[in-house]
Amino acid sequence: MIYFDNSATTKVDPGVLDTYQKVSNSVWGNPSSLHAMGEQAFHLLEQSRKQIADLLGAQPHEIFFTGGGTEGDNWVVKGTAIEKCQYGKHLITTAVEHPAIKNSMEQLAQLGFDITYLPVDDEGRISIQDLKDAIRPDTILVSVMAVNNEVGTIQPLLEVANVLKDYPKIHFHIDAVQGIGKGIQPLIMNDRVDFVTFSGHKFHAPRGVGFIYARTGRRIAPLLTGGGQEKNQRSSTENLPAITGMAKALRILLDDEEAKVQKQRQIKSMIYDHVQSFSKVVMFSKNQDNFAPHILCFAIKGVRGETIVHAFEQEDIFISTTSACSSKKQQASSTLTAMKVDSDISTSAIRISLDSANTMDEAREFNQTLDRLYKEFSKINGRS
Ligand SMILES: Cc1ncc(COP(=O)(O)O)c(C=O)c1O
Repeated sequence: MIYFDNSATTKVDPGVLDTYQKVSNSVWGNPSSLHAMGEQAFHLLEQSRKQIADLLGAQPHEIFFTGGGTEGDNWVVKGTAIEKCQYGKHLITTAVEHPAIKNSMEQLAQLGFDITYLPVDDEGRISIQDLKDAIRPDTILVSVMAVNNEVGTIQPLLEVANVLKDYPKIHFHIDAVQGIGKGIQPLIMNDRVDFVTFSGHKFHAPRGVGFIYARTGRRIAPLLTGGGQEKNQRSSTENLPAITGMAKALRILLDDEEAKVQKQRQIKSMIYDHVQSFSKVVMFSKNQDNFAPHILCFAIKGVRGETIVHAFEQEDIFISTTSACSSKKQQASSTLTAMKVDSDISTSAIRISLDSANTMDEAREFNQTLDRLYKEFSKINGRS
């Protein structure tokens, strides 16, 4: 079996699972309880927070645990809107964000907020001039993803940060769900960023756990109100086994990161060089530094993405149409649409997403399988 769908989710690391089980079995008190079991759980919670903060160069009180990337994105967008609506009702984002951002923005638009979606070029990247032109006196948030989940484009985060240095009141948020562990941490944890979203299941932690970074002094309104956990910012009893597992998963992810990124780049290159040699292939991702090392998106003209995915599945190779969210809806990819790719080509798009556990042998096998399948697709379509 070859698993090339790591941007959809990753397998829980065995060591992380072990931590999850041990904590579930032995530290199952509620961190808010006053007794010794609660104390022990609270201690472990704070230890995990510190571990994560240290790995990111943040302060422990700047880390807030969430239920994953979707919650983090919703929280920063809507929490900013609630917190700052008396100062302005204009938010800026990009045309290629994950639905967790896009749909949050759309909800706010229905409530009377004004949203600017920055357009992208044919590589899926925003222009800094467009950002400068979009900023207004009533702008309260700029939200830009680090790495696009469908095509792998890395956004010019440092340039965005530089522009926003002249606008200290605007919140700057980065959705780093696809960007962590991919060799771009200095771009993400830059000195102007205010909020960053992370999701555990993209780096071998369990599902349904994540965290946001919130710079000291920056405030967003809580969305989950209740018992007052996370310093009153995110109520709900903490998912301690998953949180401790996530802290471990992050440490493993960032350990020897450079070598792991290099490995993914090599695998991507090998597939990229092979795939692009086919006449009916249209490449959307590039094999260059301003694209993530782990995502490769391309189309085979005339063959629907689902057909390609299922053909590979028959060979025990698991890939995806552009994103897990859009694949079952059989919609054209929103990123490719924003990149002005014709819908008859974008519905043929597939995404390969790698992890450091993948190997060059798997890349070789993928390429050989593609050779065989391409011939079959060509027969069906009457092409050679
Ligand atoms: C860029 C991006 N943001 C947010 C999310 C949502 O994260 P989660 O699945 O943890 O809710 C995803 C998931 O694919 C993503 O790729």
